[in-house]
Formats: sequence, C-alpha cells, structure tokens
Amino acid sequence: MTTQHNAELIHRMGELVRAYCEHNHDFAFHPDRPVVRLHEPTFGADEIMAVVESLLSTQVTMGERVLAFERQFAHSLRMTHGVMNNSGSSANLLAIAALANRETDNCLRPGDEVIVPALSWSTTVWPLIQNGLVPVIVDIDPVTLNIDPEQIDRAVGPKTKAVMVVHVYGNPCDMTAIIQRCQRYGLQLIEDCCEALGAEFDGRAVGSMGRVGTFSFYFSHHITTMEGGICVTEDLGLAEMMRILRSHGWTRNLQHPERYTEKYPDIDPRFLFVNVGFNLRPTEPQAAMGAVQLPKLAGLVANRRRCAAQLQASLAPFNELFSCQQETVGGYHSWFGFPIVVNSTAPFSAAHLRRFLAQSGIETRPIICGNIAHQPGLQLYPHRLVGTLDCATHVMKNGLAIASHHAVDEGGVAYMVERIRAFLAQYSHSVTASSLP
Ligand SMILES: Cc1ncc(COP(=O)(O)O)c(C=O)c1O
Repeated sequence: MTTQHNAELIHRMGELVRAYCEHNHDFAFHPDRPVVRLHEPTFGADEIMAVVESLLSTQVTMGERVLAFERQFAHSLRMTHGVMNNSGSSANLLAIAALANRETDNCLRPGDEVIVPALSWSTTVWPLIQNGLVPVIVDIDPVTLNIDPEQIDRAVGPKTKAVMVVHVYGNPCDMTAIIQRCQRYGLQLIEDCCEALGAEFDGRAVGSMGRVGTFSFYFSHHITTMEGGICVTEDLGLAEMMRILRSHGWTRNLQHPERYTEKYPDIDPRFLFVNVGFNLRPTEPQAAMGAVQLPKLAGLVANRRRCAAQLQASLAPFNELFSCQQETVGGYHSWFGFPIVVNSTAPFSAAHLRRFLAQSGIETRPIICGNIAHQPGLQLYPHRLVGTLDCATHVMKNGLAIASHHAVDEGGVAYMVERIRAFLAQYSHSVTASSLP
C-alpha cells in the first residue's frame, strides 16, 4: 500500500469521524433541557484521529510519540525535562519515589517530614506515606483555599525536609511567600499542579518553581490524554530516576543510559535493571492525543476564566451568604471548577444548596477531598497535624464546586446564576436585604 493511498484512507476516516462528532457531540447549554455538568470532553475529531493513526501504526507502547509529547509539554512550561506517565496520581508517586530514592542527590529519607495543605487530594498525600515519609498537615487560607504560607513557619521542625503545595482548583499558591520559606528553612519544594495546568504565578508556569511539578491529564482536566500525567523538572538526575522507576527499574528509556551500561559491561545493556521500579508508563495513543490537545490549552483556559469571571461578578452580591474562591494576588487562575463555600451564618447549608442545584440539573462536587486529616485512610499511618485546621474543615463541611470549564457558555452561566438566585429567594425572610436576589 503506498503512502499516498494510506493518506487517502486516513483522510476519509477523518471525514467520517468529523461527521460523527458533529452529529453527536453537542455540549452547548439548551434552555429546553437545562443541564450543566461539571465536565465535558475537551477532545474531538482531531484528537480521535490522532489516536486512530497511532493505533494504525501498531506502535502503541511507550515510544517516539511519548518522547515528543514530553518535550512539547516541558517546553510549553519553559522547562527542560518531562516524564509522562499514566495518571496524575502516578506523577505524584513517581516524583516522590524518585525524591525518596537513595540514589537521588539530596534525597528524602525515611521518617523525613513533608508539609502538605489539609485541602488536598488523596494521592497528593498517599505517595508520601508509601515512601516512608511523614505528612505534616497544615491549614489553608480561607480566601484562596491554598496552603497558608504562615502555617509553614508553625509546622517546620528538625525532621521537616520538604513542602508539597497544591494549586487548589487551578489557583496558584503565593509562590513568593512559599519559596522564601523554603529557602529560609532549607526545604525542597514539590508542586502538585494536577488541577492547575495553564495557571501561572508572577508570569511563571505552575510546576516550574520547585524541584519537581506534577500534572494530570484525566478526562475532566484542562486537557486530557484520557488518563495520564506528567512530571516536569530541571534536574536531569531526578528526571533520569523518574524514567528508571517508571519502567521496572530499567535503563531502557534513559537520556544517558551509558552512565549505567558502561558500569555493567557483563549485563546485556538492553535488559539492565539498576533500581527498583513500577510500571507507570503511558501509551502512544495517549501521547498522540496530548500532542493535539496541548496547543488548545490557552483557548480552553480562556473560556474557563471567562466563565469564572461572570460567576464571580454575578454572585458577589451574596458574599454575606457564601464566598467564592479568590484568585491569588499575582496569580493567573486556570479554574478547574468554581468553588463556593457557604458561610456559617447562612440560613441554609451546603447540602441544601447541593440538593437544589441537583434538582435543577446542575452538577456539584466537594472541593477536592476536603480536609485530608478527616479521611479514614490517613488515620492508619503516622502523620502530624498543625493547629486545628479549622479553615479546611469548614471547606469540607460547607464547600461545593460547580462548573467553570471550556464548554460552559453564556447560557450555562446565566442558568447557574438564575438557579442560585431562585434558591436564595426561598430564604428571603431570614437574610438581610442587601443579600437578597
Ligand atoms: C490535586 C490533585 N492531585 C492529584 C490528582 C490525581 O490525578 P489523577 O486523577 O490523574 O490520578 C488529582 C485528581 O484530580 C488532584 O486533584
């Protein structure tokens, strides 16, 4: 079969896929059947065809496409090394396992403490425990919902060696305050950016400010590779360690395998295992999808920001009743969703609001996993709590998130605002006049 014939076949398949998507993929808001889902697909015919072409090549396991996507992604953040893997959770596991590996320069050691915000995701914290480290849980700032930098001062002790921040819902942490403290106390900085692709602080991409940054490409995130994740770093040694651990402890995918192969001339260099390891590898179709998605990121984030700005403006009059997450000063928020926290003095609970919105076809979810210190999984393992963690507990009890994504159009925003106003109108007898719809 000639190359030209192949190209013609792919072109015809592309037309069919495009026609299918046009007929079936309608994610716009329709007032006659109003639904606002938390997530809609970010991919369409272009991405599906990239996956199809990757499958047709029959080269599906990690190879050239993954390598190319790693470079494309790292460069988009003005960084050098990307190590793609199969989820954001795997990215966190790989980053922490590499940092805690005895072969890594300035490694974390068993029993070392790592400060994490109480409002985080489970697999922000679990990899610390899985690698013999001790999570030290600190409270958040109630306005940005991110780690409160001053809590680092309270938390730091002789065994504390690192801080792992989470840019909650795409809101960049106050990195000036955090980096200052890391320098003051000699702490390594790890950025969990799994909710924050596209976000920046002071003009710098999140993920590029610490020793390692991690991202998720899960279906519901800013861009997707179906499942998927990536670690980024400027540290070649750490990148090489992540490549080893990603794949069985193997030297196969290293940038500089000769460092090992020359040392062990008696072992077949194709099958040289120099450390322990997992299998956290992504596939070629995932990378093919990511390569098409990444150039669309800025546009997707712009729509998330437009949606969030409209929600902020429309809901501001009700800030006696609930507060919306506020963008960090100096930050560029990429709005993974739109978090709302009901004030303790409001005459209704978050559960009431959640039920009303569900009945109106508006999906909600808790804000990350609430206060991780309240999750049963953490109770099973050594950890340290700093202070009462009241802010994170308040968010867990009274918070919910609604949609703010690329596919929420003006109609969707207007509908969410109208339904929230209708909900509040039920309480018009018990709230002050200035808060009333
Ligand atoms: C802060 C944070 N870290 C890690 C993850 C894990 O990512 P994944 O779902 O791709 O495993 C998530 C998931 O959304 C997250 O919100």
